[in-house]
Amino acid sequence: MSDVLELVDVSVVRDGRALVDDVSWSVKEGERWVILGPNGAGKTTLLNIASSYLFPSKGTAQVLGERLGGVGTDVFELRPRIGIAGVAMAEKLPRRQTVLQTVLTAAYGMTATWHEDYEAVDEERARAFLDRLGMTDYLDRKFGTLSEGERKRTLIARAMMTDPELLLLDEPAAGLDLGGREDLVRRLGRLARDPYAPSMIMVTHHVEEIAPGFTHVLMIRQGKVLAAGPMETELSSRNLSLCFGLPLVVEHHGDRYTARGLPLGQ
Ligand SMILES: Nc1ncnc2c1ncn2[C@@H]1O[C@H](COP(=O)(O)OP(=O)(O)OP(=O)(O)O)[C@@H](O)[C@H]1O
Ligand SMILES: [Mg+2]
Repeated sequence: MSDVLELVDVSVVRDGRALVDDVSWSVKEGERWVILGPNGAGKTTLLNIASSYLFPSKGTAQVLGERLGGVGTDVFELRPRIGIAGVAMAEKLPRRQTVLQTVLTAAYGMTATWHEDYEAVDEERARAFLDRLGMTDYLDRKFGTLSEGERKRTLIARAMMTDPELLLLDEPAAGLDLGGREDLVRRLGRLARDPYAPSMIMVTHHVEEIAPGFTHVLMIRQGKVLAAGPMETELSSRNLSLCFGLPLVVEHHGDRYTARGLPLGQ
């Protein structure tokens, strides 16, 4: 299997501090990874490398077979092969565009303009992705008027539009109510189990948000990798406790996970 992502001894240093510290990690084709870690651990920084928008200060990073900063690597050719849904992207999108336009513009690698002649086939694809995310009733709504959950689903549909080989999701369920979270987990689970879906990396703070079909977990704390490997072995109470810095118990119910702190004194 070929490598979707290969980081070797990667550090990202800012103001003398390593935000990501000596990380080696590889994602193979077909794997679906979850990145877990507390606030400030370096999760988004890792996704920024995976999206080719940030180059390591030290070490080497290969994304979809292309070495970042390498001779012959053109990030402008690489970026359309990667779909990104995260808060940073949401902020760049015009609030007055409709949901359908917001998804369609992705086909042309743009965040703003709406002057291109879109092909009918693109519009069909945009409608199909929005339908898969349960957004068919919102096609003509302005992006800026959507609720948090509707916005997240639109962003995922948008990230799928370029038919990416790698899909990056930064906290897709953050801010959703219980129903919204469960709906999104179900949809992400369907995507994760689809053999034709892209390789996926999802950042989250909560094991409850891990959809069935995700296969691997990377745990990070203060820029350093604590654990990385198959979900069944690595998503343990011990690793999670070390990652979040307090005693935690993780439980597996069917194909979902829950975690809670141990009562004081135990
Ligand atoms: N450009 C920058 N210059 C200096 N420090 C930065 C820069 N970007 C991020 N940081 C710091 O790097 C650390 C890791 O940031 P990152 O956004 O990767 O964390 P995270 O794990 O995604 O956190 P969260 O769960 O809160 O989203 C944080 O302490 C953050 O303040
Ligand atoms: Mg983050």
